[in-house]
Amino acid sequence: MRSFDLKKRTVIITGASGGFGSELTKLFIKKYGCRVIGIGRSKEKMNALSLSLGCDKNKFKYFLFDVSDKENWHKFAAMLESKGVIPDLLINNAGIMPPFERFDTEDEETAERVMNVNFMSVVYGCKAMLPLLKRSKQGGIVNIASSAAVSPIVGAAVYSASKGAVRNFSLSLSEELENSIYVGVVCPGFSKTDLFRDNGLNEDDFDFISTLGTDKDEIAEEIAEGVSCGKKLIVCGNDSRLMTAMSSVAPVRSNALYSKVMKGSDLNIFKDLK
Ligand SMILES: NC(=O)c1ccc[n+]([C@@H]2O[C@H](COP(=O)([O-])OP(=O)(O)OC[C@H]3O[C@@H](n4cnc5c(N)ncnc54)[C@H](OP(=O)(O)O)[C@@H]3O)[C@@H](O)[C@H]2O)c1
Repeated sequence: MRSFDLKKRTVIITGASGGFGSELTKLFIKKYGCRVIGIGRSKEKMNALSLSLGCDKNKFKYFLFDVSDKENWHKFAAMLESKGVIPDLLINNAGIMPPFERFDTEDEETAERVMNVNFMSVVYGCKAMLPLLKRSKQGGIVNIASSAAVSPIVGAAVYSASKGAVRNFSLSLSEELENSIYVGVVCPGFSKTDLFRDNGLNEDDFDFISTLGTDKDEIAEEIAEGVSCGKKLIVCGNDSRLMTAMSSVAPVRSNALYSKVMKGSDLNIFKDLK
């Protein structure tokens, strides 16, 4: 495991406008003196993030585009190249989670959208950025999967599949590129972010997630630490560590147990799955 020096690097972060992405942006700029190029769709959220950086806001630039469209990635790569920008690290973090629902009632368009935003965007981003990353003295890619990649979530079958795809794609790529580019994949557990904005969560649900999960700034710290150590698989949060440990011993049984706990909880989001 080779270490990855984060100091003063040029880092591209997708989904920088919210949740883990904005925490990573702040951390990389404030703690490691990085320059961050953020990608997202909300100008309002990007401007708020920029403002929150105070005197360091000149270290942050952002671009607004949909990461699930491969043309956008090629245009972005060409623009960086024309400006002579060589990124050192790409963090594919943007993702969506549709409302918890039984698969038999979920529509196919939602499933396609989830796969495109959560998985194909990672493929497109890696493909478009690799030629530039290879020109860096120390290039790297970090893809954000989820604990759902190891322990699938009931009521989120396609989301879990998209994260499993990100995990396996990344682990395969890390071996292919071992001698040139660092590739890491992150499996965070639950954290209270806007990811669940469309999930009809009530305050009690959010309290439950906060108790079970990890604060988003801690997740960002754990990601940075794992990347600095050059880890290929970074498991963040106690819930994710527990799920990973259980599934390595008994993958099917642990998933059944985990699903039972989720369905049996008072969580509003699982009431239709009982
Ligand atoms: N929170 C958790 O419990 C948890 C657990 C495990 C894994 N994760 C993963 O962590 C990553 C970050 O999630 P989060 O919790 O920080 O969620 P979040 O607060 O909702 O942030 C998601 C970010 O992705 C961006 N995004 C979504 N669709 C996009 C698109 N098509 N094109 C460009 N940007 C897009 C959003 O930007 P705009 O709003 O500007 O479009 C937003 O900045 C996701 O991949 C998620 O699956 C989260």
